[in-house]
Amino acid sequence: MSDTSAALQFSETELLGKVVSVDTSRVAVDVSNSVLLTRIGIGGLIAIRGSTQHEYLIAITERVTRSLRDELPEDSESDEDLMLTSVPTDLLRGALIGTYRTVDGEKKNIFKRGADSFPQIDRECYVIESSNLQRFMGIFGAEYPENERLKLGTFVADRTAEAIASGDKFFQRHAAILGSTGSGKSYAVALILERAAKLKYPNILVFDMHGEYAPLADDDKNGFATRFRIAGPGDLKNRGDDVLFLPYWLLNRDEMLSMVLDRSDQNAPNQASRFTSHVRALKQKTLEIEGKVDVARTFTVDSPIPYPIGDLLQRLRADNTTKGVGQKGQEVKGEWEDKLTRFISRLEAKLEDRRYGFMFMPPAQANSYSWLATQTARLLGANDGRGIKIIDFSEVPSDVLPVVTGTLARMLYDVQFWMAPEKRTPVTLLCDEAHLYLPVRDDADAVQRQALGAFERIAKEGRKYGFSLLVVSQRPSDVSKTILSQCNNFLALRLTNDADQGVIKRLMPDSLAGLTSILPLLDTGEALMLGDAVLLPSRIKLDKPVITPDSATRDFWKDWGTQEPDNDAIANAVESLRSQTRSSSAL
Ligand SMILES: Nc1ncnc2c1ncn2[C@@H]1O[C@H](COP(=O)(O)OP(=O)(O)OP(=O)(O)O)[C@@H](O)[C@H]1O
Ligand SMILES: [Mg+2]
Repeated sequence: MSDTSAALQFSETELLGKVVSVDTSRVAVDVSNSVLLTRIGIGGLIAIRGSTQHEYLIAITERVTRSLRDELPEDSESDEDLMLTSVPTDLLRGALIGTYRTVDGEKKNIFKRGADSFPQIDRECYVIESSNLQRFMGIFGAEYPENERLKLGTFVADRTAEAIASGDKFFQRHAAILGSTGSGKSYAVALILERAAKLKYPNILVFDMHGEYAPLADDDKNGFATRFRIAGPGDLKNRGDDVLFLPYWLLNRDEMLSMVLDRSDQNAPNQASRFTSHVRALKQKTLEIEGKVDVARTFTVDSPIPYPIGDLLQRLRADNTTKGVGQKGQEVKGEWEDKLTRFISRLEAKLEDRRYGFMFMPPAQANSYSWLATQTARLLGANDGRGIKIIDFSEVPSDVLPVVTGTLARMLYDVQFWMAPEKRTPVTLLCDEAHLYLPVRDDADAVQRQALGAFERIAKEGRKYGFSLLVVSQRPSDVSKTILSQCNNFLALRLTNDADQGVIKRLMPDSLAGLTSILPLLDTGEALMLGDAVLLPSRIKLDKPVITPDSATRDFWKDWGTQEPDNDAIANAVESLRSQTRSSSAL
């Protein structure tokens, strides 16, 4: 006990055992103190005496085995005593994750990732627990300046030690929250939003698929977020302030064609080319009317410039019916005649479909040139101190979900991309239930692939423009591999499915793969925090958010004893289903 300020100080009673074998980053410990072993769980920390007095190698427990070994009694003197006896052998396997030094030059209590040396055979190993654990974890908290700290909860190994991540690193290079249904993902999201809301200008857009984050924007509950809703069929007439439209002219050429064009049609190339040429001409016309001479010089068919969709239809119909003129002036079949029929009818069907109202039936002002800037400012702006925005997609039909999420994400990213670098406030898109619209590429259809492209681009290059993703999903094996593999931080909650555990395993560094064995055993709200936002992977219990999302797990058994089914409510639900809006049932 030479240095009392050292974070790790062990006495003989804390000796767990000795190193018996080393294999690259794995170490096996022969446990001599089996009482200590009962206190250490998977994910617990072990300190191994290093090459100097001041150094310990830190390992995280992956696996514990106990077996019986036949042994000759040591003190047998006569042949008669030569009876084999069974002795229990406890082995603990750990992954080396870092090096701790009590002093390093001028500095004290230094922890760094990675083992500087291999542990020697027979070196002493200690369990890091109670006051040692608290002081040790304190090093990590201290590592991050106060204003950069993202407190997520406490360590499972010691509930008094705070689990702190670097807020910067967590958001910088994409993160993911993964776990089976009911494992606590939505609560974790609410907690992270709550922490971010304490900052002056947080800029997070939450893609809320079930409308469960509404309480976070509820003034009666001291909510801190602004909430928007994608226009449902019921919002087309009476529009509230919070209703969002995504007019068709925001879509670039590929997005539009992925919805309207049938690529198996033999006339598909003609249809695509007529569409492109008319849209370009119509956008040009708008620019002329608006007097935007500069824009008109350089815009492309993909530029978000309003144009009347009716005019587009008219032009396509004219193409489809115009006869050609032969060399002798006689009437011949026109160049495009009858070639656009199916394209036109597919487009018409979309225009009439009220589910697509948010796109094809926008209010008049949403077709004005200045609308986009105003609308984007509401989504990316400070909103009177409410930088966290929740976008409710709950009434968007599932087949259009990829178009809406993809287009919105791309628009926001493009705006951030074109913004002057010194003016950019970083933005995070939080994609809840990501498996619904960020599927594995092989399983995706044309529309989904289009949307996927937008998100994958953000995943690959967003960092440079201060634009990141926070992906949340209960089915990691169904989420785009490209996107997940770009994530640098993971909050892995309980995961019971084998395929899903496999995904996490592949995303983790090899040396830590053994830790995935605790994933199915985690309690609700418990998580394995991995990545560069924390200095070492740890098993933590997440704090409960103050404002909880509307995601309560129902008590089936209790409710079957008390909650009587209500026939009026059923009738209202049927009407809502017919009208595709919840509002009529609220009347
Ligand atoms: N940190 C926590 N502390 C205490 N209870 C929690 C915590 N997190 C979650 N729970 C409990 O678990 C329930 C389910 O949590 P949550 O809604 O976050 O699950 P989920 O992972 O989002 O599920 P789904 O994938 O179905 O959306 C909550 O209603 C709450 O009762
Ligand atoms: Mg959830």
